[in-house]
Amino acid sequence: MSPLSDRRAFLRFLAASPLLAPLALGACKGDEGSEEQLTAAVDRMGTLGEPDQDLGELIASPDKALDVFDMRVTAQNTMPPAHYGYIATGVDGDATLRANRAGFDHWQIRPHRLMGVEQVDTATTLLGTAMETPIIISPTGSQRAFHPDGELATARAAKSQKHLMLLSTVSTTSVEDVAAARGEPIWYQLYPTARWDITEKLLARAEGAGCPVVVLTVDLPVSSNRLSLTRFIKRDRRDCTECHAGGKDAYGEGNTTFARKPMFDGTGITDKDFNTPMLTWAFVDRLKRATKMKVVVKGIVGAGDAERCIQHGADAIIVSNHGGRAEESGRATIENLPDIVQMVRGRVPVILDSGIRRGTDIFKALALGADAVGIGRPYLWGLGAFGQPGVERVLQILRAELRTTMALAGARSLAEIAPASVVRAG
Ligand SMILES: Cc1cc2nc3c(=O)[nH]c(=O)nc-3n(C[C@H](O)[C@H](O)[C@H](O)COP(=O)(O)O)c2cc1C
Repeated sequence: MSPLSDRRAFLRFLAASPLLAPLALGACKGDEGSEEQLTAAVDRMGTLGEPDQDLGELIASPDKALDVFDMRVTAQNTMPPAHYGYIATGVDGDATLRANRAGFDHWQIRPHRLMGVEQVDTATTLLGTAMETPIIISPTGSQRAFHPDGELATARAAKSQKHLMLLSTVSTTSVEDVAAARGEPIWYQLYPTARWDITEKLLARAEGAGCPVVVLTVDLPVSSNRLSLTRFIKRDRRDCTECHAGGKDAYGEGNTTFARKPMFDGTGITDKDFNTPMLTWAFVDRLKRATKMKVVVKGIVGAGDAERCIQHGADAIIVSNHGGRAEESGRATIENLPDIVQMVRGRVPVILDSGIRRGTDIFKALALGADAVGIGRPYLWGLGAFGQPGVERVLQILRAELRTTMALAGARSLAEIAPASVVRAG
């Protein structure tokens, strides 16, 4: 059998699998898993300029995943194209998306031998919370579009694997239900809106659900140009009007995108309230005054803005370009990290996300001064492919890879991962 026909046979298996039935290929309108559709599904593999070593393979169960890219391929072949496309998309030509991955190749790890590495400790503390691992779950919206259990599956995986979870404003499950499923405090991610009364309601609910930290995302004052998403939507032959009222593009052109989200219940929000080009640093000041929660600013990519965060009272900074979904800067977050760390000088914790896919990436980010790292797409691939067990497996893989990298580099604790642990590639 050729590799292609192997894949076709596997896709047929997936389409018939009861585990995957709700979201499998067969769920697409008019799609009976025909040869044409299967071939199209095969052709979708390896899109968006993924490097060869990141392609991954289809797997039948979470334990078969060798790395997070096996989850990506399986999610892509399990989920409807539009929903997978929402995870996959960057902006414009996806240059920043690719740069986030390539940036890690610009740094190399410097090993140290004979360091007695039988015990490798990844424990750390972030804003007063003790954590067994520096790997945190970045906030991502609309998770029930990826698996019926959505944010609850992620929260249960975060609980069983003991990771900090950040919950998106545009979640498909309420903060109250997710906090209960996680069983430990979660951080609440806040998108600003044009209406302060909505912000107040969100803050009150997050505080009421026991969130100790609010994470203000500042990188999308206007909606970004997610072309790859549009291309994926064009490939989706299902009738989407039942879920996406009005039959318009589900991601911004209708007027119900945000009103449908449980956190906006009773607010009367319209999609245009989500445009916030008028916001300035005064919003951070106002947020600080309005809440007892610690305030973290997410979406910082420059040293000057990092300093401004501190001047305006931020308790931590998340270096992030939204996984290449905001501005098309073409620049990786890992490239911005050293300048930001130098500017911050340890005054507040610095967290980095965007492009983290392997334990070596995590090690490099920590060496360059990050206190913790966030992951987005990898756990969504696990969620889309297998639900809670898929998210759990992704977290296990990344933790195991980090520990192996630390041991091979001679670092017995996070404190022993230092700037000298990496060297700029020549
Ligand atoms: C499908 C998807 C939805 C996202 N939704 C949000 C969100 O609601 N709020 C937010 O602050 N960031 C959101 N992000 C950005 C993530 O928090 C994170 O910054 C990004 O995914 C990290 O890059 P990575 O996907 O390469 O790991 C989203 C990312 C993805 C992929």
